[in-house]
This record gives sequence, C-alpha cells and structure tokens, in this order.
Amino acid sequence: MLLRSSAGFMLFLLSQCTVSLGTKEAVALANAHLLPQRDYESLGNANDKDYPRDCFEILQRSKGNSRDGLYIIQPKEEPIVVFCNMQDGGWTVIQHITANSTVDFDRTWQDYKYGFGSVHDNHWLGNEYMHQLTGSSVQYILGIKLVSLNAEVKWGQYEPFLIEGEESQYRIRVGLYKGNATDALTLDTEAYLHDNQKFTTKDRDNDNYFMNCAKLELNGVPGGGWWYDACAGANLNRRNVIYWQKDCNKQRPCKFAWMMIKPIEHHQSYPAKACPCQKVEL
Ligand SMILES: *[C@@H]1O[C@H](CO)[C@@H](O)[C@H](O)[C@H]1NC(C)=O
Ligand SMILES: *[C@@H]1O[C@H](CO)[C@@H](O)[C@H](O)[C@H]1NC(C)=O
Repeated sequence: MLLRSSAGFMLFLLSQCTVSLGTKEAVALANAHLLPQRDYESLGNANDKDYPRDCFEILQRSKGNSRDGLYIIQPKEEPIVVFCNMQDGGWTVIQHITANSTVDFDRTWQDYKYGFGSVHDNHWLGNEYMHQLTGSSVQYILGIKLVSLNAEVKWGQYEPFLIEGEESQYRIRVGLYKGNATDALTLDTEAYLHDNQKFTTKDRDNDNYFMNCAKLELNGVPGGGWWYDACAGANLNRRNVIYWQKDCNKQRPCKFAWMMIKPIEHHQSYPAKACPCQKVEL
C-alpha cells in the first residue's frame, strides 16, 4: 500500500517534471526583459529542440512558410527573443522606432548593450547581441526600412555589415550600399561618416565631437546612442525626429524606422557579380 502510493507519488513527480520542462517558461532567454509580461505563448518556436541562429534560418527550415512575429534564436550560447520580418525575406529585426513613441531611447551604455523596449514594438536588440549575430564567420546584410508620414517606403541595404565587440566599443562596419533611400552611413554629403565609428551613449563618449553627441538635444530630446561621427548624417534613435539625411528629417518627418539583418546568401541563382552600375537602384 505504502509502496504503491509512493510509486504513484514518484510517477506524479515525474509527470510534473516533464510538464514543467515542456512548458514554454522553461526557456532561459538572455533578453527576457524585451518580452513584455513574459509572454512566452507568443513565441513561434519555443518548443523546438535546438534554436536557429537567425530568422532567415527559421524561414528556410519552414520552406518559406513562416509568419512575421516573435521567435527564439541562438546566435551564440544564449537563446534570445527577436522579431522576425518574414514578409521581406527572413530578416532579424535589431531596431525599431516609431516617432514620438513612449519608449525612451536616451539610454546608458549598459541599456544599449543588452537592449531595451519591447521586442514586438519599439526596441533596440542590444549591441552585444548584434555583435554575437554579425561578428562570427557568417556574413550579414544590414537592411534599413523607413516609412514617411505619408506612408512612402524607402529601403536601403549594406553588404556586408558587422558590429565589433565591446573591446572595440561596438564599432560599426558597413560595406556596399544599394537601395532607394539615401546612403546615409557611408556617403559623407553631410560631412559625417558613420561607417567605422564606435558607439556613443550619454555615459560613454566615443565620438569625434568636442561634446557628447548623444546628449545634444533637438526640441528637448537628446540624440540617444548611435555610431556618431561629429555628429550625424543619420540617427534612427532620436525619438522625436528620425533622421536619415534627405529621407527622414524635420522637414520630411518619418513615422517608422527598422534596422534588420540577414545572412549573405552565397548560393544565389543569379550571378553574384552584379554590374557596378546597379549599385544604386533608383
Ligand atoms: C523603395 O524600394 C522598396 C523595396 O524595394 C519599395 O517597397 C518602395 O516602394 C520603394 N520606394 C520608392 C519611393 O520607390
Ligand atoms: C513628433 O512630435 C513633434 C512635436 O510634437 C512633431 O513636431 C512631429 O511632427 C511628430 N512627428 C511625427 C512623425 O509624428
């Protein structure tokens, strides 16, 4: 009798263990603070055995049948939650901002390092995770999507793209540009170059100006963290005025911006060596 009930208790314990391992809360996300209300139910692949390294791999594994939304990826050791833009081709979103949203982008080095905001809305994924994603042997493309107040979409991409480690102050490296937005990161029409710049926040000044660019205010709103020169030809982290040279500025306000990444495909069906005259598609 006693034996039977203790065996039953063991079984009960075992089933409890299996259940708790099977529930979605069991996933230890390094950036769980970007998931509001610990909303594990909204994760597209929480029950998977091994996590893909980025959204593009999820789209490929599903043979193109994945929806936009939240997914777990594992670029290095730690699983993290990200928003995947599947419609545009399997992009991992690393930044999203809505002009005048309540999410504060005027943050410290530590906040920019591990990310802030809400992953299915306005957020910064985190310099450390951007580095983990892009700093390995897999090469990435950076995509920039800008939407103006009258809903006009501009698109640009840099290939390759990588964020160096914290020891290099999360320096940005971007390659060849194409798209119908302005090339605001490598063209210095505004006399500012963002390529190769270190990251600056209000508490860590790595820019080329005599003051801290992240603290400079426009209508009372500081610039926020960015890869400043002295200071900016582009800044997608100023909450009140999203800035991207002539595409997004005070005169031509933008409502939304996204930064997203996907790996360079080395086995494309079309010739990889495009004619240099196609570099800018207008
Ligand atoms: C720019 O390119 C994007 C992506 O190809 C496209 O959706 C958008 O309509 C284009 N915008 C303009 C103004 O041509
Ligand atoms: C954001 O707010 C400012 C100040 O109220 C306003 O001038 C600007 O047009 C707003 N931007 C957008 C894109 O709505």
